Amino acid sequence: MLHSATRTSAIRRRTAAVTALICAGLLATAAPSAATSPAALAAAPPDIPLANVKAHLADLQSIATANGGNRAHGRAGYKASIDHVKAKLDAAGFTTTVQQFTSAGATGYNLIADWPGGDANQVLMAGAHLDSVSSGPGINDNGSGSAAVLEAALAVSRAQLKPDKHLRFGWWGAEELGLVGSKYYVNNLPAADRSKISGYLNFDMIGSPNPGYFVYDDDPAIEQTFKNYFAGLGVQTEIETEGDGRSDHASFKNVGIPVGGLFTGASRTKSSAQAQKWGGTAGQAFDRCYHSSCDTTSNINDTALDRNSDAIAHAIWTLSTGTTVPPGDVYESTADVAIPDNGAAVTSTVTVSGRTGNAPATLKAGVDIKHTWRGDLVVDLVAPDGTAYRLKNSSGSDSADNVIATYTVNASAEAANGDWKLRVQDVAAQDTGYIDSWKLTF
Ligand code: TRP
Ligand code: ZN
Ligand code: CA
Repeated sequence: MLHSATRTSAIRRRTAAVTALICAGLLATAAPSAATSPAALAAAPPDIPLANVKAHLADLQSIATANGGNRAHGRAGYKASIDHVKAKLDAAGFTTTVQQFTSAGATGYNLIADWPGGDANQVLMAGAHLDSVSSGPGINDNGSGSAAVLEAALAVSRAQLKPDKHLRFGWWGAEELGLVGSKYYVNNLPAADRSKISGYLNFDMIGSPNPGYFVYDDDPAIEQTFKNYFAGLGVQTEIETEGDGRSDHASFKNVGIPVGGLFTGASRTKSSAQAQKWGGTAGQAFDRCYHSSCDTTSNINDTALDRNSDAIAHAIWTLSTGTTVPPGDVYESTADVAIPDNGAAVTSTVTVSGRTGNAPATLKAGVDIKHTWRGDLVVDLVAPDGTAYRLKNSSGSDSADNVIATYTVNASAEAANGDWKLRVQDVAAQDTGYIDSWKLTF
């Protein structure tokens, strides 16, 4: 094909092939585009049953009640909590280890549960402290994180998940004495094993009765994974600021392991702006029973516990797949769509379904447009809610053929599921073409 070097002439050449197709009316009558399904989707993260998480909380409450009203380090209720969680994990096929340490003259215990398989050189960990303070049963602090991590682990077993990374879960002792158990764990890990931990996810207080939705501001990929999940639910989040370093993630962060986590608030007061966005009571603590005897099974907000439990599963499923960039799921349309010369915009649709949460920050839009003067074309990606992302502007000087390119779009503000459109408009007379195919890679 030949093009003049400059575009001053009213007459420009177009390819014989495209001209012939247009004259025959073939492009104009092309079937409406139909999206093709992705060939192989990774298993979707499960919806964690709230009832199962609450059953674990009831068990922890019973253990406290039967042991003097607490599950504190050095007390019988703590060891009973360890034994209870361990038995569930053993029955589900985990390889469990109880690690002993001494603190304040008493024996403490960490419970480690490995899910067999995955790359031993890339370990994704999730954990929670299992001890309470001595003044109460510790159901929100931190039965909530302990129960949700337990149920996420059991969901891994139910799914018989075969993640790329190795999965390891931890329940820490003596957090309330100063992160003692988690510090002991990381300090006793050989340096070679520390460097294999690609991330640690911490959950401490995730069912506060007057909840906020706080995400730790640490590793960006982990943080974004959680934010995407909540954005998909339409729930706003804030950065966790009620005491950075006040839970077990600090032990991991201190030795250079990427960390993240969720939190629904402790003794700090919910502002009226926060009550506006999340409901609940402004001017009241997120958890009025923090470190008190009233931190019982009544001290839980079910919605917060449910959302955070699902967010944990979402993060485990998402972050255990792939190395740094998970293999993409491709959604493609191969239907031809004619682009009228100097005319109205046309679109081609790809339907995305079965995903969770938002599109990635690195959504790839692969475009294959056949055209005899690509400078005529303005190309946008339109998200399901109508938000347009400009992929390419028109240019009077770009005389090359075709737009065959892959664009990276930060679509992390968009829900993944729905009808995505490639919108193409030809804004200058003479040269023409058609959308040959396009695809989205998630
Ligand atoms: N267990 C923590 C503590 O007693 C609770 C807590 C306070 C917390 N601030 C936090 C947990 C911030 C996570 C993030 O201090
Ligand atoms: Zn805690
Ligand atoms: Ca044109």
